[in-house]
Amino acid sequence: NGGGQDAKNLRVKLVLLGDSGVGKSCIVLRFVRGQFDPTSKVTVGASFLSQTIALQDSTTVKFEIWDTAGQERYAALAPLYYRGASVAVIVYDITSPESFSKAQYWVKELQKHGSPDIVMALVGNKADLHEKREVAVQDGMDYSEKNGMFFIETSAKTADNINELFEEIAKRLP
Ligand code: GTP
Ligand code: MG
Repeated sequence: NGGGQDAKNLRVKLVLLGDSGVGKSCIVLRFVRGQFDPTSKVTVGASFLSQTIALQDSTTVKFEIWDTAGQERYAALAPLYYRGASVAVIVYDITSPESFSKAQYWVKELQKHGSPDIVMALVGNKADLHEKREVAVQDGMDYSEKNGMFFIETSAKTADNINELFEEIAKRLP
């Protein structure tokens, strides 16, 4: 801690939103347990997990993660989880244009009803399925830039960019 700055311990409420099947639960499982479940079951309601990371300046960030259910029947529950969240991670599947549209729906919903200073990240998951890609990287980048969001493509399967996603969020906390 030679920089003269005091180490901080931050607690962050984070909500994951996005269509069913895009890999929200798998991203959380990869981040928290370092595992991948190819037979991951659909989430019912929501599930909660937490994970703490240390940053280079010895600040620690404890993520309290609400992994919501993407199936349409649970959409009305979403405000319970995004209300009061300081971070929203909105996930789509790079092989599914429908899921990219759904991600845009969630961005608009949060712009209307989320905390005004919420940090939003747009995540294109399943980047390992590049031969089935139907959403261009540029489309994710352009959309996120227009909406002042952080953007990254990840793979919960290969672990590509999963830790980076949470580290980048931590750096952007107010
Ligand atoms: P809901 O709980 O219904 O909202 O879905 P979800 O977004 O939590 O999806 P989940 O994490 O359960 O993953 C759905 C399916 O996609 C599972 O069969 C996963 O194994 C698969 N999957 C998730 N992430 C990846 C990935 O990065 N690459 C590949 N190839 N498959 C993935
Ligand atoms: Mg799930």
